Amino acid sequence: MALSNIQLTPQLVQAVRDVVDIVDIAAEHTQLRKSGRRQMGRCPLHREKTPSFSVDPIQGLFYCFGCGRGGDAIKLHMLLSGDDFPNAIETLARRYGVPLPPPRQQKGGAREPDLEPALEAAAQFFVDALKGSAETQAYLERRRMPQALVERFGVGYAPDGWTHLLEALHPRFPLADLKAAGLVGISKKSGKHFDRFRQRLMFPIRAASGRLLGFGGRTLADDPAKYINSHETAAFRKGYVLYGLDFAKRAIRESSTALVVEGYFDVLGAVASGVDATVATMGTALTEDQARLLSRFASDVVVGYDGDEAGEKAFRRVLPLLLAQGLTVRRARFGRDQDPDSLRTSAGPEAVLEAVTQAEDAVLAELERMIPPTVHQDPRLQARAGKQASELLQSIRDSILRYSYSQKASDRLGVPVEILWRRVGGKPDPKPEDRSDEGQTGPKLVRSLEEQALQLLLVGDEELPPFDDLPAPEVFLIPACRNIYRAFCDLYRSGGGNRPAAKEVVASVPLDSEEVDQMARLLLEDSIAEEAKGLGTALGQLKRRWSQQRLRVLSGEISEAQRGGDEDRLRALLEDKTALSRALHRGREE
Ligand code: UTP
Ligand code: MN
Repeated sequence: MALSNIQLTPQLVQAVRDVVDIVDIAAEHTQLRKSGRRQMGRCPLHREKTPSFSVDPIQGLFYCFGCGRGGDAIKLHMLLSGDDFPNAIETLARRYGVPLPPPRQQKGGAREPDLEPALEAAAQFFVDALKGSAETQAYLERRRMPQALVERFGVGYAPDGWTHLLEALHPRFPLADLKAAGLVGISKKSGKHFDRFRQRLMFPIRAASGRLLGFGGRTLADDPAKYINSHETAAFRKGYVLYGLDFAKRAIRESSTALVVEGYFDVLGAVASGVDATVATMGTALTEDQARLLSRFASDVVVGYDGDEAGEKAFRRVLPLLLAQGLTVRRARFGRDQDPDSLRTSAGPEAVLEAVTQAEDAVLAELERMIPPTVHQDPRLQARAGKQASELLQSIRDSILRYSYSQKASDRLGVPVEILWRRVGGKPDPKPEDRSDEGQTGPKLVRSLEEQALQLLLVGDEELPPFDDLPAPEVFLIPACRNIYRAFCDLYRSGGGNRPAAKEVVASVPLDSEEVDQMARLLLEDSIAEEAKGLGTALGQLKRRWSQQRLRVLSGEISEAQRGGDEDRLRALLEDKTALSRALHRGREE
């Protein structure tokens, strides 16, 4: 499994791209049926009844007509596994036998060892130790932790004593590795090595892909350090990892919803209550990276923090972070001084499930708290509440959502929404019809023209014009189309005039971009226009549209130069205009 300290060279990435089989990857998660040269199935990225997920083995691309996501095999692997790009490359390289370069050198020159085997051996040791400890089993029973969950989460036991793990793992693993993995410490006084986790319940912490990163250990004695966690390594950075995501990701993706809680026991408790889609941070506030990670799987997040002052504070901290990632947020309340697990043991799993399903809209709840009902009576109070509310509203990414919440906030505040709106987000997203740069043709026609041209370039069977005859990228007005076209041109030129494979073009635009989704759609949708145009016609129309537009702009600048009496500029502009009109005219006669 991936280690992530591999040096990513373009050669390695290319070698992986060359060997991965997209059908292979898709087929692990959904049943595919052949349909022409494609394979169809139910989309593994969201829940659906009828198949709208399409894979093209020849082009190496997938696209889902349901959720609109598409891309190449690497992107599909990332979406399914939660791996980031470097990890995806490494995992796939190992899986398909692509030789990996030696691990990256660390700053000090020392090689970063592969700690996973030592960690996995330790996890097994802890699980075995739990089987042998009636006392620890009794502890779990007292806490009503179902045996099946203990096993599924790999919960174990670190025995009381200083060298149990050490003796079990050494000399199979070098002391340096055990130390680097945070399993073993060294005494300053005696210089002797010792187990760091002693008499603790052990929770293995895994990356979304399942890779073992470290452990969290809860004391079973009354050690003042209730939990100790593995220290951070190159692979394990607490702010990047969500506990439980490896197990939860499937349920999260299916429901688009994730429950975020505070602790290990809360994850197990929520799962035991029927909420499989649960993850936790590990003793630190949720970071932006964790929010982003979550947004790769979920669109709606239920925050299920403890019902105490600390939980309240933590909630207020994370709300804007989640909103900024485009997530909608709800808040589950488990009752005063309760957390999901304590509620489960005191009131039963149904109570937890109910708290999660009844979770209220977090933004509305916050607005209600910030804007008390009596706010109108005191202008200063009104101003302060307005400021607080604006700060919260600003973090909402979707402008419709932001506007809608702004309306609610302004109602409550008793001020016109315009005042709030001016502060929180300026203008709503431009509607396609309003785009001034799309000419007179209307957005529908324009859009399909650009898409048709791209489609003909990428997968058409007409011969391509020589590179120098291709129009400049500016003729594409839609940014995503323009970027795709630019990538296409670069590859066409560097490839010595051969039509670049669609896969290569996909590979040269950012993986997470709208471009990739759009290209995958273009390539996997059979036909976007009823009357098929030729490549020459499509490109010609694009050029003409651009020239006409440019001509309008020039005419405006010419009148301006005339008014301003700027002779030199006027002459240059007129020359441009003549050249452009001539070109346009020629184009029409072709
Ligand atoms: P809690 O104190 O709420 O623990 O800390 P808990 O998970 O509910 O455990 P029980 O139910 O009391 O046994 C929440 C999380 O904060 C981190 C751990 O990840 C814990 O699960 N934490 C807590 C630490 O890292 N160190 C600590 O000393 C305490
Ligand atoms: Mn607890």
